[in-house]
Amino acid sequence: MFYRQIDRHLQLRLSVPQFADELFQLTETNRDYLKTWLPWLDSIQKPEDTRRFLDLQLHRFSKGLALHETIFYEGRIAGVLGYNLLDHTNGIGQIGYWMGEEFTGKGIMTRAVKDLILLGFHYWDIQKVEIRCGVANSKSRAIPERLGFTNEGTLRRAEKFYDHYRDLVVYGLLQDETE
Ligand SMILES: CC(C)(COP(=O)(O)OP(=O)(O)OC[C@H]1O[C@@H](n2cnc3c(N)ncnc32)[C@H](O)[C@@H]1OP(=O)(O)O)[C@@H](O)C(=O)NCCC(=O)NCCS
Repeated sequence: MFYRQIDRHLQLRLSVPQFADELFQLTETNRDYLKTWLPWLDSIQKPEDTRRFLDLQLHRFSKGLALHETIFYEGRIAGVLGYNLLDHTNGIGQIGYWMGEEFTGKGIMTRAVKDLILLGFHYWDIQKVEIRCGVANSKSRAIPERLGFTNEGTLRRAEKFYDHYRDLVVYGLLQDETE
């Protein structure tokens, strides 16, 4: 099992299909909360859907296309984060994340994202990390803002969100801005 120990309580593990049951349960418990901000909830209806997603992420990791991590907080799955996309041609990694509501407000995701950024810069030597957030998603936007990203502008109608499209703010951090 490959993991990064962030502190006594917080561990980030490479996501594997064995996490599917617990991760699905977290998704199910937080379905309404997550559906406000994430567009994919309707495609996850049973543990098998989560397992298939984790299988795919592991396959993409093996090809160097993505990295999906599961957040363990005090031994329980709290959420996930990762590089949804690793664009090696341009040296850009695109980060995404979500947590169960009960784990919010403790700085868990900010610390997890900080570690993921370092991993991207040092392990894959990417030159830039991007985070795209819904314009109205202030909790999500606060993470790149806390970590010193630059607001690079708003992409109009950049994400299909159930029955409409949403604008996304793009945040960027360059490798030489962290040293
Ligand atoms: C986005 C999301 C992960 C942010 O969660 P969060 O708990 O606000 O983020 P963090 O874990 O970094 O915690 C930050 C909060 O903990 C507090 N905090 C406590 N200790 C902290 C520490 N050591 N470092 C940073 N923040 C700390 C901060 O003040 C902040 O609280 P506030 O918003 O009341 O000011 C969460 O809202 C979520 O999963 N939303 C639904 C899915 C989603 O929107 N995903 C993103 C799509 S782009």
